[in-house]
Amino acid sequence: MSEHRLKTSLGRAFGAAPTPARRAARWLDRNLGGSSILREELRHIFPDSWAFFLGEIALYCFIVLVATGIFLALFFHASQAVVIYHGSYHPLSGVPMSDAYSSVLDLSWNVRAGLLIRQVHHWAALVFVAALIIHLMRMFFTGAYRRPRRINWLIGLSLLLLVGFNGLMGYSLPDDLLSGTGLRIAFSITESIPFIGPTMATVLFGGDFPTTGIIARIYPVHIFLLPAAIAGLLGAHLGLLWLQRHTEFPGPGRDDRTMVGSPMVPQYALRTTGYFLLLAGVITAFGAWLQINPVWLYGPFRATDATTSAQPDWYMGWLEGAVRMFPGWDIQIGGFLLPAIFWPAVVLPGLIFTPLFLWPWLDSLALRDNRFVNVLQYPSQRPGRMAVGAGFFTFLTVLLVGGGDDVFASAFGWSLPVLLRALQILVIVLPPLVAALTYAIARRRSERWLVS
Ligand code: HEM
Repeated sequence: MSEHRLKTSLGRAFGAAPTPARRAARWLDRNLGGSSILREELRHIFPDSWAFFLGEIALYCFIVLVATGIFLALFFHASQAVVIYHGSYHPLSGVPMSDAYSSVLDLSWNVRAGLLIRQVHHWAALVFVAALIIHLMRMFFTGAYRRPRRINWLIGLSLLLLVGFNGLMGYSLPDDLLSGTGLRIAFSITESIPFIGPTMATVLFGGDFPTTGIIARIYPVHIFLLPAAIAGLLGAHLGLLWLQRHTEFPGPGRDDRTMVGSPMVPQYALRTTGYFLLLAGVITAFGAWLQINPVWLYGPFRATDATTSAQPDWYMGWLEGAVRMFPGWDIQIGGFLLPAIFWPAVVLPGLIFTPLFLWPWLDSLALRDNRFVNVLQYPSQRPGRMAVGAGFFTFLTVLLVGGGDDVFASAFGWSLPVLLRALQILVIVLPPLVAALTYAIARRRSERWLVS
């Protein structure tokens, strides 16, 4: 039935007369079978549950980032040549600074809509990572990573890493005091890697910190290399999703061979266009009303200065927290020094991401279950997995709070050393407690709330 309707509408689109376009379309159809493929794909079924919108939010943030990034690139100068500022922001008048920082001040104060676009770009990055993490949690807790979607789990995790890293590159570009402080930490982390670290740091940064060429180095990585890699991975992710079809929550008429939902045209296409416009509108409203990264308040980067209450973007906060909370143990082995920062900033991320990457295989090994599945599980159907996930995210949340320990201490009038000690204890005690509690609750509950 719908096949018939599609044929009719294609016929109408090309018109009744044998125009060159119609002849070309017929030739293509006869030789490549295009219209039957198109007919088939236009009927591709998409699930209706809200939970599937999370990945779309991430995709649309990327589109907003590319669009706003192109605008920013028209005005940003990736140069650390020293200039004397004489722009509209009077408190910095006459101050020596890099051309990069001066161009971001101009973008914020002189370019029409420049500040709005800068803030929209920054908010899109923050929402992008949040959407990816919630999307990943959905995959994890509902078992969507199981066969045949293991490769897509790997691609999704790689996307998360690349997007977070590109965010770090992005907020390092303005060359303000905060971004310079972040780069200084990045240099120390690279340098702490045994054997190769010092050479790696000097090669990547173009010398010993602070260098005058780092902004010019990270600029092409930020605007071209990483976005191209992210676009490629997004394409592969969506291509696999298309080929393998979607997962779906359990329900009447749903099993591993059938699929319930709306066809791509017209329902899904209209719905997702609406979602895109809504998301772009909300992020633009954030950019218009919620100040983010007011670099003019921080001042230009000087290697001798550091700001108080310095905070990275939220998605780097867990790493910052780990560095702040780990005891200052510099370990000397033979002639080698393993600096304290090596453990929380290099070893810990390895310990976190390696099992995450391997999770689909570990899970199927543990359960001896290697089946192809399309129907998801409710989180509480697997109390063990739910407990591991809850403990893991509690661990990351305590680290995230640790990344802002000075801000919390001054906001609530707490003693910073006492808060730090409390967080060091909580990061060890709380995750197993939460995991045990989650396990007990999940055993008792059967969930139905995810069905839309
Ligand atoms: C995954 C993709 C991307 C992420 C996560 C990201 C993130 C960021 C962030 C957080 C900033 C700091 C903004 C601020 O000043 O407050 C930034 C700056 C910048 N981004 Fe991106 N960005 C992405 C893609 C792009 C693309 C594709 C372009 C250009 C085609 C671009 C161009 C720029 C420029 C020129 C700046 C410096 C100007 C400024 O800081 O105001 N970005 N980016």
